[in-house]
Amino acid sequence: MSKRTITSRLRPVLAAVAMLATGTGAALAAGEAPHIERQTWSFAGPFGHYDPAQLQRGFKVYREVCSACHGISLVAFRNLEEPGGPLFSEEAARQIASEYTVIDGPNADGEMFERPGRLSDRFPSPYPNEEAARAAQGGAYPPDLSLMAKARAAHRGFPWFVFDVFTQYQEQGPDYIHALLTGYEEPPEGAEVPPGMYYNKSFLAGHLLAMPAPLSDDQVEYTDGTPATVDQYSRDVAAFLMWTAEPKLDERKQMGFKAMLFMVVFAGALYFTKRKLWDGIAH
Ligand code: HEC
Repeated sequence: MSKRTITSRLRPVLAAVAMLATGTGAALAAGEAPHIERQTWSFAGPFGHYDPAQLQRGFKVYREVCSACHGISLVAFRNLEEPGGPLFSEEAARQIASEYTVIDGPNADGEMFERPGRLSDRFPSPYPNEEAARAAQGGAYPPDLSLMAKARAAHRGFPWFVFDVFTQYQEQGPDYIHALLTGYEEPPEGAEVPPGMYYNKSFLAGHLLAMPAPLSDDQVEYTDGTPATVDQYSRDVAAFLMWTAEPKLDERKQMGFKAMLFMVVFAGALYFTKRKLWDGIAH
């Protein structure tokens, strides 16, 4: 039996136990938080790892769509070619960097100046500061997305985050980003949507947000045969943002596996040594 089937079999049991223990059945039924559908991710589970092709597609979506409003200011261009990421070649990463304009300085005259980006630069944000962003966005602030996949993971709400501890589920962030980007729909009858606001069934803070639906089918060109749909774009950009939030995930999971292997071998060795020891004493 694979690890996945064990976890999925255990999940309802754990859920029932936790529910009995805390008496949260009523809170569950009330359903205040929007339901966020779980997705399948290549980086889920103990053997999970990023799919570089998916990260490259997600980067393309970020760059061509989201970057108009959102920065990823913690990511440097050189990260694009590092192990465990989108694995662009150094040449490609250098090329991407050079297509951005960064502000450097001051020069000998004490002035800041613009120059093409280098591998060591971080992605420049679309706005110089929060005030400028708000001014351009009608008062709303498009947050930096570098850590968004982690920031929203904690918002799954009680009681789900309790179960997540037991099931080791760690993909709530990308699930949410995918749900948000695919969650625009007609508001329910009677719901009032003020001008400049949009209805989204998955938005955590009350279904109304200031971000217009950013994606539509065929908007971003995919050259590897992957479907050019809102659903697929959302999946890919969510995976990309998981990587920006946790660039060392592959490494961490590999270490975790090695540690587990070590524990098993160690426990086995201990068991046999102990038996020998007791045998020795008994005879
Ligand atoms: C036209 C500008 C614009 C574009 C393009 C845009 N966003 Fe946004 N986004 C915003 C604004 C403004 C907010 C803040 C909304 C609010 O809090 O009401 C926001 C908020 C968000 C949030 C936070 C939601 C939350 O729970 O607080 C996420 C995640 C997000 N955007 C992801 C994306 C992604 C991914 C893309 C690209 C596919 C994208 N955005 C494209 C303007 C934009």
